[in-house]
Amino acid sequence: MKKIAVVTGANRGLGFENCRQLAQRDIQVILTSRDRAKGQAAAEKLQAEKLDVKYHPLDVTNANSIQHLAEFISNEFGHLDILVNNAGILLDYLENPDGSIFNVKVDTVRQTIETNVYGPLQLCQTLILLMKVHNYGLIVNVSSKHGQLSANINSTRFPIYGVSKTALNAVTILFANALKDTNILVDSVNPGWVQTDKLLCI
Ligand SMILES: NC(=O)c1ccc[n+]([C@@H]2O[C@H](COP(=O)([O-])OP(=O)(O)OC[C@H]3O[C@@H](n4cnc5c(N)ncnc54)[C@H](OP(=O)(O)O)[C@@H]3O)[C@@H](O)[C@H]2O)c1
Repeated sequence: MKKIAVVTGANRGLGFENCRQLAQRDIQVILTSRDRAKGQAAAEKLQAEKLDVKYHPLDVTNANSIQHLAEFISNEFGHLDILVNNAGILLDYLENPDGSIFNVKVDTVRQTIETNVYGPLQLCQTLILLMKVHNYGLIVNVSSKHGQLSANINSTRFPIYGVSKTALNAVTILFANALKDTNILVDSVNPGWVQTDKLLCI
């Protein structure tokens, strides 16, 4: 039986390539994006490569959207094996180019944390239930070198992005500890610098 994987923020960048490489390993991939047209186009591109990829909309900041995805997976497959929490934003870069903590806008903090932390947190809470069906799962939270506390404190370039990835790492450890007696593994990764479409992520 094929394993079932969900990748968030997969219409472009690392998420899109994640979908391709998972599908190339004979995994059934659910490619998700907040923009339906862009997500469908991305899925069609991979389908044209004869890869088993389905599209489903997902805005990681919207609890209803997360619930709809869970219902889709439950109805279609009955369980889930892999979740890649890839969707992420880096707004400091645009709004606070000198990276000064004095210039950080609270709205930017809120938006960044909603996407980079609350989103993965709620996706874990909701989709782990579908991993418990077979007591098997792998969750990869895509973090950054800026998620290291020491790196974040010493780096003035992306303060709020760094705060969000530090928090994501903490969330990762909490889920990993809570699931340590199961076959569900939760971890975070730093993909390193990759030149993706908009060069917004580090
Ligand atoms: N590239 C790097 O060098 C690098 C290094 C370290 C860590 N990372 C991390 O790796 C991940 C992917 O990076 P990337 O370079 O591929 O980024 P990217 O090219 O900017 O793509 C980000 C993706 O996240 C999606 N997204 C943003 N907000 C969303 C939301 N509310 N709901 C659903 N999707 C949302 C975007 O959708 P739209 O197209 O609709 O905006 C896009 O598909 C991020 O978590 C990033 O922090 C990247």
